[in-house]
Amino acid sequence: MSTAEYAHFSRTLLQWYGRHKRSLPWRDTTNPYFIWLSEVILQQTRVAQGLPYYERFVAAYPTVHDLAAAPQDEVLRLWQGLGYYSRARNIHHTAQIIVGKYEGKFPGRYEELIKLKGVGSYTAAAIAAFAFKEQVAVLDGNVFRVLSRVFGISDDIAAPASRKIFQKLADELVPANEPDTYNQAIMEFGAIQCTPVMPDCLFCPLQQSCFAFNHGMVQELPVKSKAKAARPRFFHYIVFELEGSFYLRKRLEGDIWQGLYDFYLYESDTKDLPTERLLQELREAGVPVQNAQLQPPAKDYKHVLSHQKITARFYRIKLKAPLKEEVLQETRLALYNTEKIEALPKPVLISSYLKDAKILVYL
Ligand code: ADE
Repeated sequence: MSTAEYAHFSRTLLQWYGRHKRSLPWRDTTNPYFIWLSEVILQQTRVAQGLPYYERFVAAYPTVHDLAAAPQDEVLRLWQGLGYYSRARNIHHTAQIIVGKYEGKFPGRYEELIKLKGVGSYTAAAIAAFAFKEQVAVLDGNVFRVLSRVFGISDDIAAPASRKIFQKLADELVPANEPDTYNQAIMEFGAIQCTPVMPDCLFCPLQQSCFAFNHGMVQELPVKSKAKAARPRFFHYIVFELEGSFYLRKRLEGDIWQGLYDFYLYESDTKDLPTERLLQELREAGVPVQNAQLQPPAKDYKHVLSHQKITARFYRIKLKAPLKEEVLQETRLALYNTEKIEALPKPVLISSYLKDAKILVYL
């Protein structure tokens, strides 16, 4: 592929972008803090879903100092529903580093940005290009797809080794004078024109030079090996209620949903667990359910994560007396009234249950 062909590709995308771009708030700023927030939110999230989160974050934390000073629970609560909660914990941590070590100013170079926690090559390139006009290429799913199709690259985009191949080509295509607009353009082109299914090839300005179009391979490219099947997990939640308040605990490191709050959890290998068995398990764990009767749960709550498929059931137990201190220490449960529960960050299936059970009435 010649330099002239590269230049044609970039110019065509820039022209296309001028006509088709959506007006999005993070495109009208060179503030690296806003750009960073938007890019972290938009990873693995569609624009329509991410936009309200971006607006809420910018409103709640107008500067990196505000984010750094916020309590973690509050940051996670604002993130609730976006998933991949480590992203929220990382932006919070990194905001504190930016304030503490960099006097609140983002470093301006890719090589420095990538050293920040939670800032990978994609985010570092996005901040460097959009905020500081550095000539580096962003490489997200959209860019992989466009390059794979137009240039006929059949390396598996899910394989880490392919990244180098794509990154090298992507970097060569970035024009020196407009790295910011060009990078927005290629992502937008992937999002709107060169879509995963049913791309709009008929009205595509790159149709003539597109390898996939010319070889009838639009459906075959990019090549992406399938992810391993998600591991099924079965959660049985015991919802202890005491006079209209509920026992919850903050989830620890080492499993999903770190930092979010849920109920007492018994996990089993199978979906079905007779309530008598569950009570037995609880007694053995020292949880006071001596004479409790468990209602079979009304429904299953399902949640699919990237590598896990959770099925959760909820069993509500009304207590006559508070749980004992030893039990609280052992289980890390604490009693919260509904107003506090509303403000806690929670996995979406916990929120859904709280709503169905009419414990929380919002949303
Ligand atoms: N997805 C990820 N980054 C984006 C951006 N800057 N604009 C639109 N969609 C995006």
